[in-house]
Amino acid sequence: MKRILITGVNGQIGSELVDRLLQFVDADKIVGLDLRPAMPPYVIAHETVDITNKEALRQIVEKYQADTIFHLASLLSAVGEMNPDQAWHVNMTGLKNVLDIARGKNIQIFWPSSIAVFGPNSPRQNTPQKTILDPNTMYGITKRAGELLCQYYHEKFNVDVRSVRYPGIISHKTEPGGGTTDYAVAIYYEAVRNRVYTCFVAPDTCLPMMYMDDAVRAAVEIMQADLEAIKVHTSYNLTAVSFTAAELAREITKHIPEFRCNYEPDFRQEIALSWPQTIDDSAARADWNWQHKFDLAGITTDMLEKLDKKIRGRN
Ligand code: NAD
Ligand code: SER
Repeated sequence: MKRILITGVNGQIGSELVDRLLQFVDADKIVGLDLRPAMPPYVIAHETVDITNKEALRQIVEKYQADTIFHLASLLSAVGEMNPDQAWHVNMTGLKNVLDIARGKNIQIFWPSSIAVFGPNSPRQNTPQKTILDPNTMYGITKRAGELLCQYYHEKFNVDVRSVRYPGIISHKTEPGGGTTDYAVAIYYEAVRNRVYTCFVAPDTCLPMMYMDDAVRAAVEIMQADLEAIKVHTSYNLTAVSFTAAELAREITKHIPEFRCNYEPDFRQEIALSWPQTIDDSAARADWNWQHKFDLAGITTDMLEKLDKKIRGRN
């Protein structure tokens, strides 16, 4: 991991992955790429490029001599359902471009899959690593196809590509970009801003979640693991904590007693109900020693403290 390219760098995960990598890599060794221009504080180089443009991507990889790519540019589940053609194009063409450019070169790739690879017929409790995978969203279909593409490029072309199936990611720096799990972030913003939130899934909707600190650490740790330790070449199940929307709201009221959550489920409810409630990530724990640090109480304490400073400017 000497010269790093992060695609989708302006997004929820990319913007925080930069901070994590800067703890052990110099800023001039990292370049970000996004469809959108650079965001302040402009610490690393930035290229405004469409990931589906293979030649432009190839030039950037060569210009910066990247030996590591964190490929995060994507459309997420809710936005993907509203633009299925675009979701297929960006998610599949983008991934294949990255894999093609890495072929025959010594370039290591991280690409996140998602709990969206599971579908209505997958077991919803303690969902195993290997099980029925019949996603019924375009986003989930691109993630499942992407997993198989990664395994194919590893087996046929020896490309070192590593992947995890992220659950919903909760964070305070950059707001999420249009996923089904966005309610688990928005609820904190609205609790701090207005003391009330209208949630787009029902109170008993339970999904696996993870705090951003754990998510970016997982990305770095799987990339740093010995190649021989990596036994799953599609994507590893990964989780931290599962809770319902009502349990999340209750945790917030421990800090903000006047907070109220209302529920008006929309089309994202159906997507949430097709995904697991809890995940078996024992393979990741055994193979590359994955361990989460944040539970719901820890996430809530940190989120409210950080958002209070961000929104209200309190120290
Ligand atoms: P995000 O929507 O916040 O960010 C995606 C970024 O990609 C955006 O900055 C966007 O401008 C950029 N982008 C979109 N189309 C592009 C294109 N054609 N060319 C270049 N850039 C483009 O997403 P995120 O939450 O940071 O997710 C990053 C990755 O992690 C995605 O693959 C996503 O599927 C996966 N993931 C995220 C979560 C989560 O809860 N955030 C959970 C599971 C998996
Ligand atoms: N958080 C993501 C979404 O809801 C899961 O991949 O789309």
